[in-house]
Amino acid sequence: MPVQISHLYDASQADAGKETEATLRPPAPRTNNLPVQPSPLVGREKEVLEAQDLIGQHGVRLLTLTGPGGMGKTRLGLQVAAELLHRFPHGVCFVPLAEITDPELVVSEIAQQLGVREGGSQPLLDNLKTYLLDKKMLLLLDNFEQVIAAAPLVADLLAAGASAENPGHQQDILESAW
Ligand SMILES: Nc1ncnc2c1ncn2[C@@H]1O[C@H](COP(=O)(O)OP(=O)(O)OP(=O)(O)O)[C@@H](O)[C@H]1O
Ligand SMILES: [Mg+2]
Repeated sequence: MPVQISHLYDASQADAGKETEATLRPPAPRTNNLPVQPSPLVGREKEVLEAQDLIGQHGVRLLTLTGPGGMGKTRLGLQVAAELLHRFPHGVCFVPLAEITDPELVVSEIAQQLGVREGGSQPLLDNLKTYLLDKKMLLLLDNFEQVIAAAPLVADLLAAGASAENPGHQQDILESAW
């Protein structure tokens, strides 16, 4: 049974990958919170390469893995994310949403996984966007179908890192959903 891969192309970001070393700020150490898998991935070479290729294309910011329950979307997403660590100087963040059913809680779940706290006079979402502003990161949102009403938030977060002031520092989002 195939896992379907679809992506969103953002034309305004088509040149985003053309940054030179001079335009990149010194990257922080690569970090990730990807759960260690108890056994090696079986097969899926084609899907892993396809997803990596899509995420590597200029302007592709959001990739969605869809397929029936239990077909390996999470596992594929984790593998793709692990193999892309070198492309994201500020790391890869796995955001498990399986236990979350209230779309309002997605912001706090992402913030928690990134270590962004409430504080100051700003809403948590603003703190999150400020945190992401100068980061080149990959967020892996797992089981996003549970909180599909939070989709505008994803667009908001993608936009947060895509300003002209911070070329080359943007988030990409890999999500799994059925
Ligand atoms: N290619 C694979 N190689 C090895 N194990 C796999 C592979 N694909 C899936 N699995 C294992 O099968 C189980 C189900 O996979 P996974 O949780 O990724 O499915 P899913 O599509 O995300 O399911 P759900 O729709 O319930 O979220 C997991 O234990 C996972 O580690
Ligand atoms: Mg899953």
